[in-house]
Amino acid sequence: MKRNRPSGNVTFDNHERVVIVTGGSMGIGAAISHAFVQSNAHVYIADVKPPTEEHQSGVTYLHCDTASQSDCKAVVDKVIADHGAVDILVNNAAIQPPESYQPIDRVSSEIWQRMIDVNLCGYMRMAAEALPFMKRQRSGVIINLASGQAHRTAREVGVYGPIKSANVMQARQWGIEYARDGIRVASVSPGAINTPMIQASLAEQGGAAALGNRHPIGRIGEAHEVASAVLWLTSDAASFVTATDLEVDGGLGALGAFADPYPMPN
Ligand SMILES: NC(=O)c1ccc[n+]([C@@H]2O[C@H](COP(=O)([O-])OP(=O)(O)OC[C@H]3O[C@@H](n4cnc5c(N)ncnc54)[C@H](O)[C@@H]3O)[C@@H](O)[C@H]2O)c1
Repeated sequence: MKRNRPSGNVTFDNHERVVIVTGGSMGIGAAISHAFVQSNAHVYIADVKPPTEEHQSGVTYLHCDTASQSDCKAVVDKVIADHGAVDILVNNAAIQPPESYQPIDRVSSEIWQRMIDVNLCGYMRMAAEALPFMKRQRSGVIINLASGQAHRTAREVGVYGPIKSANVMQARQWGIEYARDGIRVASVSPGAINTPMIQASLAEQGGAAALGNRHPIGRIGEAHEVASAVLWLTSDAASFVTATDLEVDGGLGALGAFADPYPMPN
């Protein structure tokens, strides 16, 4: 929609802040990493795959499978060895294999176990490694990427959805636990965002047009729109915000209709 009024502008300064983004090599994680680089932070990407050339600029890549405690420890140790600090942890690495789009009795135990290991325990591993240093600093922010699927039911996401709900509760639990240590923890729940993860499951979700139309705003989101929410939450502008969830979802979370209330655009 073309605007005919100024839309305002916000910039962030993360000079000297040290940031770890898990799953930062592509998708939402790459956009978050890029936004931190643009705001002059030291950015470490912890991912099973290195970033592609377009996402390499200004970041340090560390190989890490968040399902491995020793990999998670090695990432935090390296960051501390380089900078003596870790200011921000973005728990973003998660998987949603197309084979998981099934009622749970049809999802193999290998797949759901791997999803639990990465999507749930991976967040815990990284936080558990970073928190002792954040406590010592008496500062730090942890952001868990959750999902719109954390807040409502849908068919065929019986593995992914409940784990995403747990990511919200992790942020709430850890937020209250460490509030007096100067550490804030929050989750962000995106609606459908245009990333490789969503592209891989577009057919299961009825195609791009139908998926966009399910969002009141009338389209799916872009990764930079999630990144800007993360930059705000991790900045001092959000210094009284902790143990809560921010839905970045084009209004999806407020939609309570039985059926899609919007006609499909022609
Ligand atoms: N895309 C969406 O529409 C959407 C919506 C809601 C929530 N989310 C959440 O946002 C986050 C990012 O999603 P995305 O769409 O950018 O995903 P994506 O699949 O596009 O990218 C995920 C990244 O995580 C990495 N990764 C996967 N397993 C890993 C592991 N074990 N250890 C380390 N890195 C690993 C991948 O290599 C990749 O770089 C996830 O937590 C996802 O659940 C996404």
